[in-house]
Amino acid sequence: MLHDLIVKTAALPVKATGALVIYVAEDAEPTGGAAAVWQATGLDWTKLAAASNFKGKQGQMLDLLAPPNVEAQRLLVLGSGKPSNGSSPSAWADRGGSLASKLMGLKVTRAAVLLDDDAATPERVGELAAGLTLRHYRFDRYKSAKKDDTDNSLAVTLHIASRAAADKAIADRMAVANGQILARDLVHEPPNVLGTTEFMERASELTELGLEVEVLDGAAMEELGMGALLAVAQGSDRPPYLVIMSWKGGKDGDAPLAFVGKGVVFDTGGISLKQGAGMEDMKGDMGGAAAVIGLMQALATRKAAVNAIGVIGLVENMPSSNAYRPGDILKAMSGTTIEVVNTDAEGRLVLADALWYTQGRFKPRAMINLATLTGAIGVALGNDHAGLFSNNDDLAGKLLAAGLATGEKVWRMPLGPAYDKLIESRFADIKNSGGRPAGSITAAQFLLRFVNDVPWAHLDIAGVALGSPQTETNGAWASGFGVTLLDRLVRDNYEGK
Ligand code: BES
Ligand code: MN
Ligand code: ZN
Repeated sequence: MLHDLIVKTAALPVKATGALVIYVAEDAEPTGGAAAVWQATGLDWTKLAAASNFKGKQGQMLDLLAPPNVEAQRLLVLGSGKPSNGSSPSAWADRGGSLASKLMGLKVTRAAVLLDDDAATPERVGELAAGLTLRHYRFDRYKSAKKDDTDNSLAVTLHIASRAAADKAIADRMAVANGQILARDLVHEPPNVLGTTEFMERASELTELGLEVEVLDGAAMEELGMGALLAVAQGSDRPPYLVIMSWKGGKDGDAPLAFVGKGVVFDTGGISLKQGAGMEDMKGDMGGAAAVIGLMQALATRKAAVNAIGVIGLVENMPSSNAYRPGDILKAMSGTTIEVVNTDAEGRLVLADALWYTQGRFKPRAMINLATLTGAIGVALGNDHAGLFSNNDDLAGKLLAAGLATGEKVWRMPLGPAYDKLIESRFADIKNSGGRPAGSITAAQFLLRFVNDVPWAHLDIAGVALGSPQTETNGAWASGFGVTLLDRLVRDNYEGK
């Protein structure tokens, strides 16, 4: 692999082969182990910091090659900013991401990082390890390796005060990072490789972690009356599936949390065909389903004390002589009739049946869906926030808080009966698109028609899941948005409760 990363922990003292990394806070001098390292060099801190204009600000770096009396090729002094504004989980993940980016930029392949001060709690070191891994990630499995290719591998040893507690916290947090990486991998996979069947098989592999996985095929969905989801699938030779994953880590009989994902493995728009430019991005139209799989893997790997259901609707939206058409009237599982006015508004049709099925069968305590649902959400919020729509203020508040803690931020958007007017149909109960005005809201309002009184939230991740939303912890095209956010939601609000 071009991009292997090894992160391990070790006790003090520090022995470095490549780079030795120490942190210094804003307007401060090296302290603790960093002070000892610095003292060994015999260099004058005040003079060097002044000469290089190093203030210890977050992101600042002082790179000393061949430092005297230190067993390392280089000593990297990194600014950690003000201690007060860097205590959230996302700040530590960002610190790890920034570190990875610096090491990669310098083409350092081996580093030892000194993290011995009191602020470096086991949880925070876990965040740093996750951020490091997430930033180092690249999807390069289809690149032929050449002899003269640069070595992108990286081995980092985190030297921490207490290993026992940190190893557990790191493993726990890395389970989530690896779930996010699974989501990224699935979003990146080309659509010729990852069809509905292959996607379903990837989900089925989760049984190895103790999850139960159930697959409904087209015939089973026909039986259930899922006319909305099936209509989207009918233009493709690839069969539709509804995959149900359950993790039972909570008390027997406790109502589960339900996570529902849009899994359109490729969205051509169907008969309402999309334009050619950029259509390749629509391989990522299963980003919601990918996040659900990644989350379920994370919960199972870290053995979360919660009952959780993951449901994904897998279809491909293609034009063909058998494709559904504008003008078609569909009957959803709920009995609602839907006039199709645009076959490119297919995600809401898939979710309509998936949501109805999930709430009816599992009676969840809360139901959250993720979907790359509308281009309009990217127009409204760019790639800094996902759109949040909810029928429940308490659930919305929990998601907003989880967003701030993890850096996977969400911004609440309105719902309301006024928007129902835009999706009224002349011939059926509703139509599947309200046109350009309030495009993301009418899509959410459409979903709401398939939700009863369960606390529900819809995350429109079209602006944040794909198209290189670059952050401190993401340098890739697909971000894997949602896994870390929802893991945090579970941890902070539902686990063991
Ligand atoms: N999958 C798209 C939305 C999308 C756009 C996701 C860009 C990721 C990046 C969705 O199925 C779609 O085509 N939505 C239409 C809705 C319209 C026809 C009402 C859109 O956004 O244009
Ligand atoms: Mn579409
Ligand atoms: Zn779509």
